[in-house]
Amino acid sequence: MAEAAYLPGRQARAARMRMDTARILKRFFFCERALIVAQSGWLAAIADLDVKTLLPRMSWEDAMTADALRDRVFELRYPSRLMERGDDAPVIEVFEEAINAPSAEALILSLARVFKPALLAAYMDYLEVGDELADGPTLRFLRVAVDEKEEQVAELTAFADALLTAAPDKLAEAEAWTNALAARLDAVGGLTLTDPHPAAATIELPGRTLFQLAQRPARDPRFHLCRYYWPDVVDKTFPYGDGVMLQLRSAVSHINEAWAVETGGAILQAFADTLDWEFIYDAARWTYDESRHTRMGLDRLRSWGFEPEEIPLGTYIYDSAYGQDPVVRLGMLFYFETKNIGKKHARAAAFESYGDAVSQHDMEFDWADETIHAHYGSHWHGRLLEKLPWRIPELETLRQTCDALVKATVDSATDADREDIRRVAEAMIDKARRIGLKAAEDDT
Ligand SMILES: [Fe+2]
Ligand SMILES: [Fe+2]
Repeated sequence: MAEAAYLPGRQARAARMRMDTARILKRFFFCERALIVAQSGWLAAIADLDVKTLLPRMSWEDAMTADALRDRVFELRYPSRLMERGDDAPVIEVFEEAINAPSAEALILSLARVFKPALLAAYMDYLEVGDELADGPTLRFLRVAVDEKEEQVAELTAFADALLTAAPDKLAEAEAWTNALAARLDAVGGLTLTDPHPAAATIELPGRTLFQLAQRPARDPRFHLCRYYWPDVVDKTFPYGDGVMLQLRSAVSHINEAWAVETGGAILQAFADTLDWEFIYDAARWTYDESRHTRMGLDRLRSWGFEPEEIPLGTYIYDSAYGQDPVVRLGMLFYFETKNIGKKHARAAAFESYGDAVSQHDMEFDWADETIHAHYGSHWHGRLLEKLPWRIPELETLRQTCDALVKATVDSATDADREDIRRVAEAMIDKARRIGLKAAEDDT
């Protein structure tokens, strides 16, 4: 019998050791992170309200996956808490180019055709050879991620088709951008379970435009576009109202949280590197919540029979932070979104008394989200103040700045603005009364 005879251990389960596994998951984390930042920074520049309000759900899903990846890397590399790009930089850098797209259409096309399919394929490969015994915790969340990425690819493909059908002049540029990114990804060996390598030669990215936040928000032309979305914003004689006026005012306020979606995305991108992962994770949820609030308003108004062109979509709060330090946008989101938190129970009770269960339901869930957001606002403002004390104002000063900026925008309303929004609101109120009377007749 030979001296060195051992039991055989070359089994499929042993394909990847602990540290190799951690390296792969770390690579995935950085790729997810890059897409979350790109998807968020671009929200203000995306006009289509469906894309603007569904992309945040994807960023939140991606953030949940990335957070699980990061935790797992820490577990596998314990006690190290280091998350470094290291030799994975070539592939991470391709994902980090997503944000420099020449247009929103190009970004969405690249997500649909290159980035999300690359993550999906890599996760499927990982699961294919995964070892449930050693790595079950990873397999569980990557199975969820595969389901989500499959859905995202389908949705993003539909979005890209819709956006490029509406703007055929952007098609050639978007395709050239997407094809060049695919070639760059190939040149570093793709996103796989094998380590990437530096590209042999640089592949140009046609149309590449260094990301800058849109200071004016793009808005969906299917809606009635305006600066101030309800008369009472610019006309103190116009009542907030009760009954159908309150039902409408609340739904119109909800859909107009589009500014909060854009702002959540803007601050996620702006402070991603300064505050790093925990902030990105919270800001992705924050932005997703605001997108749900926007869709709550859209859903209620559509269910009552309002057409998009009858619904006002304003810009004044986002406009108020034009050209300001991004911390002002954080202040706007913190301050204006949580300002009315105390009124929400009374509003929900009013809706209950009208038998309007859906408005009550939305208001109650909105309240729960806003209590989380109040914590996000104070916590992350505090962290910024610690990190950048020379740049970040105290909370009270920031609040006053936000108030003054919004007041200046409100004060700049013209008679034409006031007449326009009064006409739109009165038409909605008339229609709501007719719908209400009809519903009452149908009930009797
Ligand atoms: Fe909200
Ligand atoms: Fe909020």
